[in-house]
Amino acid sequence: MIDAIVKATNIVWHNAQVTRVQREALLNQRGGTIWLTGLPSSGKSTTAYALELELFEKGFPAYVLDGDNVRHGLNKDLGFSAADRAENIRRVAETAKLFADAGIIVVTSFISPYRMERDFARRIHLEAGLCFAEIYIDTPVEVCEGRDPKGLYAKARAGKLKGFTGIDDPYEPPLAPELVCKTAEVSPREIVFRIIEFMVEEGFFREGASLLSHGRSFAGK
Ligand code: ADX
Repeated sequence: MIDAIVKATNIVWHNAQVTRVQREALLNQRGGTIWLTGLPSSGKSTTAYALELELFEKGFPAYVLDGDNVRHGLNKDLGFSAADRAENIRRVAETAKLFADAGIIVVTSFISPYRMERDFARRIHLEAGLCFAEIYIDTPVEVCEGRDPKGLYAKARAGKLKGFTGIDDPYEPPLAPELVCKTAEVSPREIVFRIIEFMVEEGFFREGASLLSHGRSFAGK
């Protein structure tokens, strides 16, 4: 169940005096969310932070919401049961929507293993007129397990970590993602370029054409 139980009553929406259009004009971009999903160690965070850096260096405010980081604070009360993962994603989806409404480009990096939760994130963005794109970081589990930078696959294999996504907990791949990125075959630099190219086409930037005129060097160093 993705929608939270509603306990907030007697509340009235207060409209801001600054509109989203004004905010976006100031920032020269459209607010929205690039939602990365994939197995643990698939390359979500590497992609997210590389994308954030590239956008930032070109003058576009972006901000990463990362699973491990968000679970240090806002979501430190949530574990890895199906219900907790759902609540994790619900809160992140709502947070991303707020950032996007502020005109920021949000890049989320969460396993977000269930379709229903990712669809929820999409729905609340689209209902608010905000850009949203689901990007599948499609890395075979063998490759993820081979990388295992945190040693969690090894722990799960050894039976010391139960319910680990990809080993004994499910992952539902996206059925119709806007983009699929294969980190086992394509370099991080090329993946960042492809995402930015997609964002230009989607109208995230006011001067997108000039952005891409940097050509392939845009995402390169
Ligand atoms: S999600 O499933 O709720 O979307 P999220 O992306 O926030 O997960 O957190 C995943 C991170 O938590 C992993 O990168 C890993 O470091 C850590 N982690 C700890 N336990 C688990 C587990 N059982 N399954 C997956 N990741 C776990």
